[in-house]
Order: sequence, then structure tokens, then C-alpha cells
Amino acid sequence: MVDVESFVEEKVAEVGAAVGDANAIIALSGGVDSSTAAALAYEAVGDQLTPVYVDTGLMRKGETEQVRETFAYMDSLRVVDARDRFLDALAGVTDPEEKRHVIGEQFIREFETVARDVDADYLVQGTIYPDRIESEGSIKSHHNVGGLPERVDFDGIVEPMRDRYKDEVREVARSLDLAMAERMPFPGPGLAVRVLGEVTAEKLAVAREATHVVEAELEEDDPWQAFAAVLGKATGVKGDNRVHGWVVAVRSVESRDGMTARAQELDWETLQRIQSRITGENNSVARVVYDVTHKPPATIEYE
Ligand code: XMP
Repeated sequence: MVDVESFVEEKVAEVGAAVGDANAIIALSGGVDSSTAAALAYEAVGDQLTPVYVDTGLMRKGETEQVRETFAYMDSLRVVDARDRFLDALAGVTDPEEKRHVIGEQFIREFETVARDVDADYLVQGTIYPDRIESEGSIKSHHNVGGLPERVDFDGIVEPMRDRYKDEVREVARSLDLAMAERMPFPGPGLAVRVLGEVTAEKLAVAREATHVVEAELEEDDPWQAFAAVLGKATGVKGDNRVHGWVVAVRSVESRDGMTARAQELDWETLQRIQSRITGENNSVARVVYDVTHKPPATIEYE
């Protein structure tokens, strides 16, 4: 991007002109895209904007707290605790697209309650360029808040980052001093697509803690995206006992926009450090494996 400051100025003016004296709402996911869009829109219209963060229980460790802290200056911020409702809705669901659908539906339900409550006329979204390309090609259903416009009668949708790539969004986020500027991308359906099969509180806890270890241990390797996923169960030995514990996959990739990716070459010591922390800190994990597959043929996420 040529000049971040003029981009910000231009977008703040654009959002201000679009929203005018009306009310707007934005779903904050904790990620860099929606956070950047929210910060720009808030600068434009202040408390006419209601940023809504839905705690789905599918978030990374510390994400909810980070959102609360970063956006504490916005009086209109709403944090909705929907963790139990998401787990209930996901009970028995094993198909990846079905998971996305259930999460998307529940998300819309949570969000529309607030949208009606604050009488929102405009929907601000953190959509970026690759989201549009992937959705148009229908490679997968991006959950975000795609279904909302049909359910709530908005006068318009405002997407200040719609023509931008991820690295450009980060530049803008940095210029706005957002703590999440450097956070790795995270899928809308969250940890639900990082636990294979049914989503349970136990699997989510393993994926959350293990992802936290991976992110922390790989900070210096600077991957584009890195995380842990829970694959299933296998035999291991803990103490004197054979156990049937979780198999955790570690994935770390280099990419520009997520459309293609290369598995990152990590050194053995780093991998062993990650393995020993994940198995040591979580008694129910029996094995850790490293994924060496590029995209294509694999995808970045497991579902
Ligand atoms: P895949 O797994 O398709 O992921 O190689 C490419 C990038 O997209 C993210 N991702 C998603 N983002 N909703 C999202 O908002 C989704 O359903 C979704 N699935 C994958 C993934 O984390 C990676 O950055």
C-alpha cells in the first residue's frame, strides 16, 4: 500500500459519509480484519457504531480478554457470552461444512439480537479481498456474517477493507496501534475446524492450549499461520501406564494470502520443544505430529 495514513483518512471519510447520522453495527471476531474495520468505523462515527464480540467458546486463548482491553475505549462495545449455546448447537455435528453452517446460524442469531436491540441501519464488515475470491469460487462457506442481511433489514453494508490483502490490513492495524496487528489469521469457525469430528469442550481445551504453545514457541520463526489441531486418539505411555490419548497435529505454514501455502521447515529442537510442552502440559495428549504438507494438495486448516 502506498500511504497508510491517507488510506485511513479516506476510509474514515467514506464510512462517515455512508453511515451519516444512522446507527451501525460490526461483528468483532478478535482477528485483525474485523478489528481494523471496527477501529476505522469507530473513528468515523463513534458510539453510533456498536461493535459486538460474540464469545463462541471457539476462540484462542486470551482472545476475549484482548478484545475487551483493546476496545475498552469504545463505550458502545458489547461482549456476548454465548459459549454454552454454541456447544449445544454443535452437539452431534461431525461434518465440516455442517459445522460451519451451524456456527454461522448461531452467530447470526446472537448478532441479530443485538442488531435489533440497537436498531442498526448499517452493517460494517471486515471482509478482505481473499474472502471475496474464496466465497465467489465457493471453495468453502465462510461463515462471518454473510447470512445476516437477509434476516435484518439493513440500509447498507460497509466494507472498508474489501479490496485489501492481509499484509495491507496489518499495515493499517499497526498504524492504528491495534494489539492484534501481529496476530496470526484465525478462521471464522475458530477451533471447531481444528478438532476433527464432534466438537466437545474437552477437545476444544486441548486445541486451545496446544495452539497457544505453538504460537508462543514459533514466534521467532515468524510463520504466516501456525496452530495445533486435535486429530483423534492413539496409544501412548504416561508414567507406567498405557493410555489412549489425543493425537495433536502441529501445522506451521508460509503464505501471502492463504490461497496457497508451504509447510514451514522447522528445526528438530523447535519441534521437540513443542512436543514436550504439549504432552507435558496436557495429560490427555499421547502424541504430537508435524504436518509437512503444502497447500495444495492439503488445505491449511484440517476441516
Ligand atoms: P484453508 O484451510 O482453506 O484456509 O486452506 C485458508 C485460510 O482461510 C482460513 N479459513 C477460514 N476463514 N472462515 C474464515 O473466515 C472459514 O470457514 C475458514 N476456513 C479456513 C484459514 O485459517 C486460512 O487462513
